[in-house]
Amino acid sequence: MAVDNIVLIGFMGTGKSSSGIELARWLRWDFIEMDKDIERMVGMSVPDIFAQKGEAYFRNLETQVCRRLAEKHHTVISAGGGVVTRPENVQILRSFAYLVLLTATIEEIYQRIMQDGKKRRPLLAKSDPMGEIKKLLAIRDSMYRDAANAQVDTTGKNPKKIALEIIELLKTHEGIT
Ligand code: S3P
Repeated sequence: MAVDNIVLIGFMGTGKSSSGIELARWLRWDFIEMDKDIERMVGMSVPDIFAQKGEAYFRNLETQVCRRLAEKHHTVISAGGGVVTRPENVQILRSFAYLVLLTATIEEIYQRIMQDGKKRRPLLAKSDPMGEIKKLLAIRDSMYRDAANAQVDTTGKNPKKIALEIIELLKTHEGIT
């Protein structure tokens, strides 16, 4: 089946948004960040949604956004790191997009998240963020790999390099228009 959308999946800090913006620019496609869509929908930041409404509420919004995105064309979508934890989300996303998994070493993920400020990531706003990263990665690793059509290691690479690697990868896969 031909698809004309790309969804970048992967753990927090693997460069989904920064390289997604670059990728969309190169392809001349639209760019959407799922977390921003959720924030617009409810008029609250992601940390506030987690604090005031809880994670389950956030996850339901995430599934709603996955469904709404199914009507897009020529769009690069940066998914939230937890989108793969619901099989329904993966099924919806795979029905209209090619899923590229971005990975990075735990050390690089930690450094990028600390640079961004861990407050932006409610799941890591804890006393031992490295421990949380390791715990979540252990739970999610197989979910990311099972969901992905392809994967790119982003360790030590800037967004432009990552975007160009994704473009090279797309050339080897038929059915992307
Ligand atoms: C989450 C990742 C975040 C955001 C929320 C939950 C997760 O997105 O959706 O904080 O469960 O991994 P990013 O991966 O863009 O940081």
